[in-house]
Amino acid sequence: MKDKINLSINLGSLHLLNPVMPASGTFDIRDTLLNKEQLNSLGAIITKSIASHKRMGNPGPRIWETEGGMLNAVGIPAEGFKYFKEEILPLLEDFQVPIIVSMVGDSIADFCQLAKKLDSFKKISALELNLSCPNLNDGLYFGINKDVLGDLIYQLKKNTEKVVMAKLSPNVTDITEMALTAEEAGADIVIIANTFLGMAIDIEKQIPRLGNKAGGLSGPGIRPIIVRMIWEVTQRVKIPVIGVGGVTCTRDALEMLLAGASAVQIGSANFSNPYVMLNVIKGIEEYLRRKKYKSIRDIIGLVK
Ligand SMILES: Cc1cc2nc3c(=O)[nH]c(=O)nc-3n(C[C@H](O)[C@H](O)[C@H](O)COP(=O)(O)O)c2cc1C
Repeated sequence: MKDKINLSINLGSLHLLNPVMPASGTFDIRDTLLNKEQLNSLGAIITKSIASHKRMGNPGPRIWETEGGMLNAVGIPAEGFKYFKEEILPLLEDFQVPIIVSMVGDSIADFCQLAKKLDSFKKISALELNLSCPNLNDGLYFGINKDVLGDLIYQLKKNTEKVVMAKLSPNVTDITEMALTAEEAGADIVIIANTFLGMAIDIEKQIPRLGNKAGGLSGPGIRPIIVRMIWEVTQRVKIPVIGVGGVTCTRDALEMLLAGASAVQIGSANFSNPYVMLNVIKGIEEYLRRKKYKSIRDIIGLVK
């Protein structure tokens, strides 16, 4: 008989059956090949970022495939809170896994108001803050200005009882500083990281490939940078870190866990392999068994 391997992990007060979950915006429960049982075997379910009001998103083209991944400039098109409440939330009701709602805002007040509204829904376990969205008031990204980031999280925490997860931008000089700022301001978990700003150009037409000109780079090409960031950040912060960026298989997820991440999110890889998350959960279990560990917790941050 096979030894039982414990894949469960606690991220603060959030209890996950295993450390694998989708990345926001890359996985839709209404449009997946996974059945309900398979969805309930994920570590958590995360929504696409929602906003308080309807947002149009960016003009097309919105996606450009690169050698090591993809550039996207989707721009958070969203139907707003009312649509989320009436159309999406009911679909989430009968899942047993933690539900994480990713959210964006145009200002600190906008973030706080949305958080307050979401706070009354018992089904939601955590709020994931998408900090890579430009603050329309002064053009700054919440995720690249330490003072704005700290203030946003500090104010937001006053408006919610939910677990607050800060999804940091990697487009900064020192992501450790941003993670420490998020922790000090009250974030319960940091997520390393959102996409890297990039650009591709059509040399014949001599125009950018994306309607928005620049976009966010995701996929395998960014993974080594993310692994290094996870490794640096987890040596400094005390709160749990979730890794995201370029995971396509078990080995990639294990790299992040060994570097110090307590869980991983999988994004772009879902587009080419809808079963990738299930494969990775199984693969992690097999790795632990082969290496004679009993729990996922035994390997988190093993690489110093
Ligand atoms: C098409 C697309 C849409 C995305 N939408 C969101 C979003 O709504 N909110 C968010 O926080 N991140 C969004 N992301 C970023 C992903 O959640 C993830 O951070 C990024 O893709 C890196 O992970 P990956 O390399 O595994 O794809 C999006 C990424 C892609 C490719």
